[in-house]
Amino acid sequence: MAGLLSIPSDVLSSAGVAYVHYLSFMVCFGALVLERRLIRPSPDRKDAILMVITDVTYGIAALAVLLSGILRVLYFGQGSSFYTENPLFWWKVGTYLSVGALSLYPTITYILWAIPLRKGELPQVSEALANRLRWVLNIELVGFASIPLMATLMARGVGLPG
Ligand code: HEM
Repeated sequence: MAGLLSIPSDVLSSAGVAYVHYLSFMVCFGALVLERRLIRPSPDRKDAILMVITDVTYGIAALAVLLSGILRVLYFGQGSSFYTENPLFWWKVGTYLSVGALSLYPTITYILWAIPLRKGELPQVSEALANRLRWVLNIELVGFASIPLMATLMARGVGLPG
């Protein structure tokens, strides 16, 4: 405990923001994997509600990844120009945004499920819709898995011009 107290506060806050960045990334990935596993035609009420919950969890964690990432760029990293001048950083941001845009499809689908679920009815999920959702989730998982590689290279200055 005494050791922890002797850590300078700027080191603690930078470690804390980095921790939030990694933890929220793990939660995002876990939620996507669970959501992917739960997709099937005509889900029962329990699974349909669980899918809505995993999607909300994913959304909140994705926001935490973004906010902690922005904080690292602005205050806790190697200086904002170290990132903004690196095309790999923009590939990383672009991949994150593309995955986010893709996830609108499942999210809107689940939001619409809230209407029958509230009335005590089950959402209608056809084989075709389940397959589409599976594919969207597959692409999201591959996209997400590629981001840490861009991050680790970017953090070491790979991609910087000159
Ligand atoms: C637009 C959103 C994001 C921004 C602005 C952002 C920004 C950053 C910054 C500034 C760093 C610090 C690099 C350094 O230590 O110099 C970092 C590290 C990292 N980020 Fe992100 N990030 C974002 C999204 C993500 C996502 C979605 C993931 C995972 C899927 C991720 C995974 C990582 C990892 C693994 C590192 C550690 C790299 C290392 O130290 O080797 N980031 N990020």
